Amino acid sequence: MSGPFRRFPFNGDLDASEQTVPSARPLVQDDVPEAEADDSELLRCQPSALFLLDQAGMLMRIGGNWQGVTGLLPEHVLGRPLHQFLKLPLGSHPRGLYAESGVCEEASIGRGGLSRRVRIVWQRGETWVAGSLEQPGPAAREAYERSEKLRRAEEALEQTIACLGTTLDPVQGQHVMRMTSYATRLGEIYGLDAAGLRSVRWGAALHDVGKARVPQDILNKRGPLSADEFDVVVQHPVWGAEILEKLEFLPDAARQAVLHHHERWDGQGYPAGLVEERIPISARIVMIADVFDALTSDRSYKDAWTPEAAGEFLLRESGRAFDPELVQLFLERVLDLGYLDQDAGNETDS
Ligand SMILES: [Fe+2]
Ligand SMILES: [Fe+2]
Repeated sequence: MSGPFRRFPFNGDLDASEQTVPSARPLVQDDVPEAEADDSELLRCQPSALFLLDQAGMLMRIGGNWQGVTGLLPEHVLGRPLHQFLKLPLGSHPRGLYAESGVCEEASIGRGGLSRRVRIVWQRGETWVAGSLEQPGPAAREAYERSEKLRRAEEALEQTIACLGTTLDPVQGQHVMRMTSYATRLGEIYGLDAAGLRSVRWGAALHDVGKARVPQDILNKRGPLSADEFDVVVQHPVWGAEILEKLEFLPDAARQAVLHHHERWDGQGYPAGLVEERIPISARIVMIADVFDALTSDRSYKDAWTPEAAGEFLLRESGRAFDPELVQLFLERVLDLGYLDQDAGNETDS
């Protein structure tokens, strides 16, 4: 074997004194014979952090650019178990470094919050484990940083949308948060993919943004609306979709949920009078969540209904206002009120 590792003592021939903690030392020493000095110099110049563990996993010797790669001082680590500083992904356990040899791109080394991502390569001998730690390559690091940035941007977007949907007033804010959670759960159970679920979540959060254009005295009016006032209120889905048109990143299905969340299964809803499956699925889901939460909440003009009473209302309107399949899934799987549907069936049978 040639090169810098030619005399690297990885062949298990360390003597007893080298394997005990008091004599644990960096791989590079100043008192090496002249013949070995060149190799020592080469080892010292290794861009990786080199290490040698004993059978118990204790760090016996370290070298190369140990401190540069790990950020850990030799005197703080020698004689201590490597696993105190090194974390491998869960999937690599239980064998970890006790496998014959291995490469792990996702390890991290350090203490507390100061850990660094490293790539670890190791080889096990009879009485030792030797290996090296490297900083991930620029491509891997850039990809990781890019994905982190994207994740943070998506989180910020979610928060912004949730915030935007809850700005009308505190009561509306609570309603939006609850019905968004009902709608998301129903969308999951229906089997929407990640993009579909995001549209439902965002559509639910933003479903009534158009009410910002409805005058407050109409919005807060106790008692029935006049025909003119009603004509104003029914514009809110269209106004909502108009407001959101400027947000280019918003998926079309989210905007459709806002525009069509007052359509009815029988075509008697607004603004377009769409029928059955012509109503986008995001809107059909948002509508059920919206109505259920409105019924089960206190409003200025009514007390909260019980979940059972609201569930019975959804059943009565199933196939008229609401998509029957979604009503069934909502009652059975989201609310755990499937027995309401069975009771209704029994009544019909008798
Ligand atoms: Fe609405
Ligand atoms: Fe609503």
